[in-house]
Amino acid sequence: VLERPGIVSFAGGIPDPALFPLREAEAAFRGVLGDPRTAAAGLQYAISEGYPPLRQWIVRHMATLGVPCTEDNVLITSGSQQGLEFLARLLLSAGDTALVTAPTYLGALQAFAAYEPRFCELHLERGEPTAKDYREGARAAGGRVKLAYVVADFANPTGATLSLQAREHLLDLAQELDIPLIEDGAYRALSFEGVLPPTLSALEIARCGSIEAARTVYCGTFSKVLAPGLRIGWIVAGAALIRRLVLVKQASDLNSSSLNQMVMHRLAEAAFERQVVRAQVHYRQRRDALLAALTKYMPTGVRWTRPGGGLFVWLNLPEHIDAAALLAAALDVGVAFVPGAAFFFDGRTRNSARLSYSLPPEEEIEGGIARLSQILAERC
Ligand SMILES: Cc1ncc(COP(=O)(O)O)c(C=O)c1O
Repeated sequence: VLERPGIVSFAGGIPDPALFPLREAEAAFRGVLGDPRTAAAGLQYAISEGYPPLRQWIVRHMATLGVPCTEDNVLITSGSQQGLEFLARLLLSAGDTALVTAPTYLGALQAFAAYEPRFCELHLERGEPTAKDYREGARAAGGRVKLAYVVADFANPTGATLSLQAREHLLDLAQELDIPLIEDGAYRALSFEGVLPPTLSALEIARCGSIEAARTVYCGTFSKVLAPGLRIGWIVAGAALIRRLVLVKQASDLNSSSLNQMVMHRLAEAAFERQVVRAQVHYRQRRDALLAALTKYMPTGVRWTRPGGGLFVWLNLPEHIDAAALLAAALDVGVAFVPGAAFFFDGRTRNSARLSYSLPPEEEIEGGIARLSQILAERC
């Protein structure tokens, strides 16, 4: 449907290919393959932990996020999606409880669901449920709480960013429950304004002194800033957990593509900082265009988030509106979005929608939102 000519798609959420660093990627592939020694390494098997110079780059990058670590704390994964799947494989058994926000990233729900956990909504405010409540709920369901997962910055699907208080609360909760806290940092670099609160990893290391004592597991990716097609992400955690994850990696696919890791290392060295700025400017313009169009056209009763970065706006529709039915009507007028129910582990809410501004050009955003607002107004 999305490939139909004339469709304005707010559905995808994938990076805009106009931003891909084509020249740098070509130079990086040529550079690796043009020298017989690097070409041999690029076409060969490699260690499961990941290409050492790339891990060193990630160590330096994590230091800028307030996370001092060493190469022993880094595992390269095939996208951060593989990192989420590995963590689920290691941590979850059938009947265990996974704490996730509602809504949350669909790909995490899918990675976790394969191991048949019980999902329980993670509340971000202090108060109820308490750690004891979570623990007792898990026990009543025949298991234990095994992990909590959050997208702390410009979340997929809501665009929301956790306050410092919410971050401190989550760290307290993870400590009381004695569970790993998975911090998905996929959108952290795509910040349009202001200063973000520190990463959960940094906050916890400030509390406990070292990554080796920390429960937070940071999942990072190059997908949103450089290129998702190379499929390179990473996990940063205490060395003991990384060693166990290395065994999972070995069993799963031995190593992420050697060639792609070497290319990504060159790309990161040559273009990461510049790409971050390009992406921030590009997506901020589109976010502004989307928010302006929503303000101009949306009927009363529709509310939406105002993300300070990332790729998503979340729409809350009047209660009687079913976003799936709305999508069918929207497609008829050439507009696509994702109904919100997909992002809830229990599909609970039918009157919400995720809009991504990553792909439609600014000049199409206004027309798309005008048409979507028109069919919504007919139902409000
Ligand atoms: C929150 C979040 N985490 C992880 C991913 C996976 O990205 P990748 O596997 O390309 O690193 C995505 C992709 O959309 C995402 O939105």
